[in-house]
Amino acid sequence: MATMKAIVVEETGGVDKLTYKDIPIPQPKEGTVVIKNHFIGINYIDTYHRSGLYTLPLPFVLGRESAGEISAVGPGVEGFKVGDRVVYIGGSTYAEYSEGKVDAVEKITNDISYETAAAIGIQALTAWTLVRESYPVKKGDYILVHAAAGGVGLLLCQLSKYLGATVIGTVSSAEKAALARENGADYVINYTEEDVVAKVNEITNGLGCHGIFDGVGKSTWDISLQSARRLGSVISFGNASGVVPPISISILAQKNLKIMRPALYNYLATREESHKWWGEVFELLAKGVIKTHIYKVYNLEDAKQAHIDIESRKTTGKLLLKATL
Ligand SMILES: NC(=O)c1ccc[n+]([C@@H]2O[C@H](COP(=O)([O-])OP(=O)(O)OC[C@H]3O[C@@H](n4cnc5c(N)ncnc54)[C@H](OP(=O)(O)O)[C@@H]3O)[C@@H](O)[C@H]2O)c1
Repeated sequence: MATMKAIVVEETGGVDKLTYKDIPIPQPKEGTVVIKNHFIGINYIDTYHRSGLYTLPLPFVLGRESAGEISAVGPGVEGFKVGDRVVYIGGSTYAEYSEGKVDAVEKITNDISYETAAAIGIQALTAWTLVRESYPVKKGDYILVHAAAGGVGLLLCQLSKYLGATVIGTVSSAEKAALARENGADYVINYTEEDVVAKVNEITNGLGCHGIFDGVGKSTWDISLQSARRLGSVISFGNASGVVPPISISILAQKNLKIMRPALYNYLATREESHKWWGEVFELLAKGVIKTHIYKVYNLEDAKQAHIDIESRKTTGKLLLKATL
């Protein structure tokens, strides 16, 4: 049986649970294709799957996205053939080959490199659905983006600015502050040095922000609620610092706040929805509204180092793995 290299999690835990090993190359089934991966996107969610915060049946191949070429097509698949250049959002992508349901596969045109496709993927789709659906950003809004120099954060800055908002980013270092500014943040607050709520009040004349995008979670949740203006929306979309603790719904009445906890996959549930959002993201990329910022490309076997780096808060933008075929 032909084998490939993959990063397998046999039990959940720290970075030492990432095992680089040989496993069989997946075979296509009814309605699936096999993709020979060129680049694999790293997302913070991969650390939740590795640690067990989000559970998957063990053992599993880690990873949620990749870009590459179709190497095999299963029965009943229409519209895809061997050699098609594609980007894929699904499971088991930290590997030389991934099997994916055809609904989760999107073709890419020749002017988009595999590296760029893997770099936009989940993070650009997340940022774009957040600013269009979770809280539709409007011209003149004040928008607060936590972890503004991160993968999703940089894109939220670019896209909120594009939609006409005044963007306030929070970051943990001067280097990250500069990068957030380059990507559309009008104001940047280093939350290791400054009081975020006081600074937001100063910037917004005491009114607070119309929309808050919070992927940091536990450590920023109270700051997010306090930074929202009357009738504002707080969108909690991640747990980089830990899960947001349970809240009493009545606290929202203090300012008639809306809160929401979106997950990208619910915006991509059908082929039509997925295709629509991908189409818009490709258009924003072509217009130069979406700009990729790749922090580093690691070899597949170095996934452990990539996890150490993203969890240590030193990375900016996107981390990629290169398949080692
Ligand atoms: N809901 C969805 O569908 C969806 C989809 C994609 C991503 N997400 C979420 O979006 C968030 C960002 O994801 P990403 O892949 O773009 O990662 P990322 O933002 O590049 O990395 C996480 C960032 O969070 C900040 N952070 C604050 N406290 C932290 C802590 N205690 N430990 C680690 N990081 C901390 C750090 O920025 P500073 O040092 O500047 O604070 C760090 O760089 C994650 O929570 C992820 O789960 C959600």
